[in-house]
Amino acid sequence: MWWWHLFFFIFIYPVLVRSERICTSIDVRHFDDFRKLQSCTHVVGHVSIAFVELPSNITSNELKSEVTEITDYLMVYRCHSLLTLESIFPQLRLIRGQNLAFDQYSLIVYENRNLRELGLVQLLRIQNGFIRIESNPMLCFVQTIDWMYLLGNGTQQHFSLKYNKSPGHCPVCGGLIDDFEFNTNSTLFCWNLHAIQVRPKPPRLADCGPECGLNGCDLAGNCCQSSCVTGCSAQNCTLCATFERGGTCVDRCLAKYELNQRQCITYRECRQLGLIPLTSGYRCVDKCPDNQIEVRDANGTIHCQLRCQGVFHVRTRKDLNLLEDCVNINGSLIIELVDIKEKIVNDLEKALINVKEITGYLKVVHSAQLVSLTFLKNLDTICGNELIENKYALYVVDNHHLEHIWPTNRQVAILHGSMFFHLNPRLCTDKLFQLESSLKSIQKLSIADISPNSNGERAICGDAVQTLNATVEDVNATAACITVNYMNWDSMDILIGYSYYYMEAPERNITMYDGRHGCGHDDWLMDLSVGLNRRHVISNLKPYTQYAYFAKTLTRTDYHYQVDAYSKIQYFYTLPSKPSQVTRIYGTSEKSNQILIHWWPPRFPNGHISKYYVTYEPHNLTTEELGKSHPNYRPIDDSDFDCECSILIPYNSGPHPDDEDYYNKDKIAYEDALPNLIYVSEKSKSDANTNNATKEKVQSPPKDQKPSKEQIPAKVQTAQNAQGVQSPAIVQTPSIVQTTSKEQTPSKEQTPLKESTPPKGQTPLPTNTSKAILNTLERFELYRRQKDEMGRAIQDKNKNDVVLLKPLPLCKEPHASVSHQLEEKCVNEEEINGIALSGTQHYYYLTQLKEEQYYRITIRACVDGVVNGCSKPAEALLKTTSMTVESWIRG
Ligand SMILES: *[C@@H]1O[C@H](CO)[C@@H](O)[C@H](O)[C@H]1NC(C)=O
Ligand SMILES: *[C@@H]1O[C@H](CO)[C@@H](O)[C@H](O)[C@H]1NC(C)=O
Ligand SMILES: *[C@@H]1O[C@H](CO)[C@@H](O)[C@H](O)[C@H]1NC(C)=O
Ligand SMILES: *[C@@H]1O[C@H](CO)[C@@H](O)[C@H](O)[C@H]1NC(C)=O
Ligand SMILES: *[C@@H]1O[C@H](CO)[C@@H](O)[C@H](O)[C@H]1NC(C)=O
Ligand SMILES: *[C@@H]1O[C@H](CO)[C@@H](O)[C@H](O)[C@H]1NC(C)=O
Ligand SMILES: *[C@@H]1O[C@H](CO)[C@@H](O)[C@H](O)[C@H]1NC(C)=O
Ligand SMILES: *[C@@H]1O[C@H](CO)[C@@H](O)[C@H](O)[C@H]1NC(C)=O
Ligand SMILES: *[C@@H]1O[C@H](CO)[C@@H](O)[C@H](O)[C@H]1NC(C)=O
Repeated sequence: MWWWHLFFFIFIYPVLVRSERICTSIDVRHFDDFRKLQSCTHVVGHVSIAFVELPSNITSNELKSEVTEITDYLMVYRCHSLLTLESIFPQLRLIRGQNLAFDQYSLIVYENRNLRELGLVQLLRIQNGFIRIESNPMLCFVQTIDWMYLLGNGTQQHFSLKYNKSPGHCPVCGGLIDDFEFNTNSTLFCWNLHAIQVRPKPPRLADCGPECGLNGCDLAGNCCQSSCVTGCSAQNCTLCATFERGGTCVDRCLAKYELNQRQCITYRECRQLGLIPLTSGYRCVDKCPDNQIEVRDANGTIHCQLRCQGVFHVRTRKDLNLLEDCVNINGSLIIELVDIKEKIVNDLEKALINVKEITGYLKVVHSAQLVSLTFLKNLDTICGNELIENKYALYVVDNHHLEHIWPTNRQVAILHGSMFFHLNPRLCTDKLFQLESSLKSIQKLSIADISPNSNGERAICGDAVQTLNATVEDVNATAACITVNYMNWDSMDILIGYSYYYMEAPERNITMYDGRHGCGHDDWLMDLSVGLNRRHVISNLKPYTQYAYFAKTLTRTDYHYQVDAYSKIQYFYTLPSKPSQVTRIYGTSEKSNQILIHWWPPRFPNGHISKYYVTYEPHNLTTEELGKSHPNYRPIDDSDFDCECSILIPYNSGPHPDDEDYYNKDKIAYEDALPNLIYVSEKSKSDANTNNATKEKVQSPPKDQKPSKEQIPAKVQTAQNAQGVQSPAIVQTPSIVQTTSKEQTPSKEQTPLKESTPPKGQTPLPTNTSKAILNTLERFELYRRQKDEMGRAIQDKNKNDVVLLKPLPLCKEPHASVSHQLEEKCVNEEEINGIALSGTQHYYYLTQLKEEQYYRITIRACVDGVVNGCSKPAEALLKTTSMTVESWIRG
């Protein structure tokens, strides 16, 4: 019936005159599936052909399709009876690469045992994505294709051609076979023996402005636009690379609706086609997406309307589809992330970013992955028209890693109903009572609803949390030295060390809860520094990159009494350094006196690439090099560009709920000694020190403390501790009598928690202080100060070991001798030869060369702001073509 559609398009809506037959993605797995391909001219989606066995009596006409465009990618994998793709795609002109296979590829031809040639004889452009032609043992005519011509965005795209039939054992364009010598005729581009590669040329290539680059220009000197595949001008173009808008090629559909990922049309045009314009995402579609329903207005016109109604139960990523684009959830939202292995926090944020109002309740249960509820970035009202147990509008139970509800300074009004928080061991109740003001129908929260006994018992809550001061003392290209402030002598007893968290942060908008995920997959990397040293070097950093960091203390206190000391999140930049080599050099010679070279930027630029330096010189192949049967180009290193190895694995933050013993708290208490980092607050200690003016670090005026308080056994004080009033050191203080009797002999080994030990100056003075006691206290203070000093020395112990290596500066006098360089610790400026090109240019024509001559070409990349900051030269041997071939190419 497609001819009917054709009629429809041509005669009724001349706006879109096209004999197009559109299909969605096609996966060919069986011979019969080729019929699907045969019904289309445009595939909006991908085509993958895999594991297809063709009957032996097949004729090539039976596979033939009229597909001219594929918007996503083309993949051909393990089709052992296929000889050429020409039999399937004789008319394919464009692969747009809008969605890529494995996030990178738009053309994959892999492991096809009998494939002899690609034969995509009409292909003009692969607009986006990488190309991989690999492990096809019989495949020829791979090196005879001008891949650079096909790539839409030049050296932003890669191509990899590996383990196919050796070019030396393949026919060359025009039909000659030469088994032994590199064949000069291979510079002629072809897809097979009879099909020359179609490469429409711009009207003019020479004498165009430098800004035209390799695109050339029209006769008037205007640069050709690469957005048109078949011509020079984006106007009146017959085939656009990305989108077409009324005969003109554009890169994006601005305020227009996208049709079939290739056209931009107006609202009216979309309606005229009998399709539905979607306001969210600006697409013109034939039916509403999953989360929207069709609504007919008075005129019978169909609109898509977000549903966002009902009770949404989010268990996995799939459930989020229904919530996308919702602003008001007309109903309730339940979040219960049962699959601990699914990395979902970022998707939650993406899907729920627009939600402003929930008319029912919000329930968050059994979601061990959540560290906060900040993924509801724009939520401001929970109406509570529907409540849990007729009472609760916000219900948060059993979230093992939840530490935080909303960002500070944000209020989420709860119009009806109350809140219920239980079994959130890391969520401090003081944070919860702060939410009280957001309740609009209820005055007070009850302890039954928010119990300090089941919230926050594995975290330290309240103002006992001391902030740590962590500063970056020094930085080089790959390392940063972070220094925290001194701990005083008391704290050192329970201090095990520090942990340092850091992550790449292009923008300064990181919060502690971003990218955090209670059960591993943390975006923060963590370094552990065990010991009392307050300096730590974070290494293996990327040069020229901004990082966010914060530090936390790590102590040995029992988990019930933990006090976290955190630093604020701060940022630093690593220094630039030398770039790595340019990734690849590729050259072609179509004229006997010139070579066009392309290169790809260094994989690790390590800074801002400001210049490239190109050199070239004639090179006579050595006998050894001759034996290697050179193809026309020698890529230096194309083996690894597609391996994106990440050097560091983000910190895996602890046990999973499905691990055995997960809920066994004793065990966890021990394991949590690492991530749960604690430190006795300065404030609490100074509270305990009445009228002790000589102390350096008293931060707040002493408070009245009744001696009786010190007598309270430790256990009774637990509740107070949970509210952050007390600290473990105080709890241990037995009485003043013990203080005076043992004060002379406190030793470093004492751990306040293990045994009843002498206090360290926290004891308040009784009113009838005798002179003897005063003396004692003075001496004790002296002792303390000495200890603090010793403590500082201990904490600075690694000061000299953490010096970061820096590159040597340039010597003041040019051409300094080696001994002078050694003596002055400086280096001479390196001389860089060659043609200097801007850091944005990735091609160059070498001209006035000799015919049929090899040239040794080197390219170096250089960054700003680094002494001698150029990469090692990357090298390639390229040969000019011969006069005969040149004249033959010219016809
Ligand atoms: C090819 O052979 C199969 C079975 O051998 C047969 O069913 C089919 O009709 C044949 N096709 C053609 C085009 O001859
Ligand atoms: C080419 O790639 C660069 C980098 O990915 C991108 O910024 C640019 O927009 C691309 N140009 C086109 C025409 O696609
Ligand atoms: C290259 O092709 C031309 C024209 O077919 C032919 O005359 C010439 O001998 C070929 N060169 C080589 C080295 O095969
Ligand atoms: C585009 O086509 C129209 C109509 O055919 C013509 O008037 C116009 O000159 C053309 N523009 C260009 C830039 O070729
Ligand atoms: C229905 O159509 C009339 C006339 O075309 C138009 O004025 C009116 O706005 C339309 N109503 C709706 C709800 O779109
Ligand atoms: C943190 O430490 C740095 C360097 O030691 C100091 O300059 C700064 O004032 C300290 N900041 C605070 C808040 O203590
Ligand atoms: C920070 O800002 C950038 C750019 O505005 C944005 O892409 C990124 O998602 C933001 N990150 C966070 C954690 O908000
Ligand atoms: C290469 O060999 C030719 C001929 O033997 C000689 O004239 C030329 O100088 C050599 N070039 C180089 C760079 O060695
Ligand atoms: C930065 O300093 C560290 C520690 O001295 C050193 O290991 C590293 O090599 C230095 N990095 C650079 C690029 O010099």
